[in-house]
Amino acid sequence: MNLTPSNPLPNPIFPSILTTDYFNLESRLRSFETNGIEFIHLDVMDGHFVGNLSFGPSAVSAIKSKFSFRVDSHLMVDNPAKMIPRFIDAGSDWVSFHVEAVPKQAIPQTIDMVKQQDRKVGLVFNPDTPIEQAFDFLDSLDFILLMSVFPGYGGQPFISSTYKKVETLKERIVADHCRTLIQVDGGVKLDNVGALKAAGADLFVIGTFLYNSADIEKTLKSIRDKLNGAQS
Ligand code: DX5
Ligand code: ZN
Repeated sequence: MNLTPSNPLPNPIFPSILTTDYFNLESRLRSFETNGIEFIHLDVMDGHFVGNLSFGPSAVSAIKSKFSFRVDSHLMVDNPAKMIPRFIDAGSDWVSFHVEAVPKQAIPQTIDMVKQQDRKVGLVFNPDTPIEQAFDFLDSLDFILLMSVFPGYGGQPFISSTYKKVETLKERIVADHCRTLIQVDGGVKLDNVGALKAAGADLFVIGTFLYNSADIEKTLKSIRDKLNGAQS
């Protein structure tokens, strides 16, 4: 990613609305907006790649019609090439797809489908997928999403081997002089976010921990304080 003064590192907290109270979603989104959140992370599940169903492209257009958020669509789907155009047409600003869902030889063209539409593209790795599989693609990716739970459900405990994976990936990104950002998703909360940043993560998807918060302003401030105190 080309990070310049006009294109700085985004606000690193990406709320996931997978675990949400649908009847209060609008007011929750409003409180994110009031508190400086830039991105909403949308977990898209097809019932095949993962055993759960969640949002379709209409969720992206609904969010974009009422809010100024950018939408980060995390596609947990088989055959992402089929879905990418629909999520882009709906207004997704960032799109990521799973490395496990695409044959290796088709990954470059799937990355290009997103880039050609001038959106940011990410490749996602399940906890048991070796991160070395990312190394051939670093140059062409805006971000890599490391899953710190097995995808499919919110509210799962964080898998601690993620720290090592973040470190390994960061070392390679630095060695290759790439600008690829590292996003972490699953079980992220106040007691691991600082260590993740120190290990080299840039962006933090947070679902249940925010959902459980009675005071979003206070919770976001405590997360930001941790991030600001962490050395990376
Ligand atoms: C898991 C999703 C995550 C997850 C984040 O399949 O990709 O975005 O819901 O939520 P928490 O923070 O609840 O793990
Ligand atoms: Zn996600």
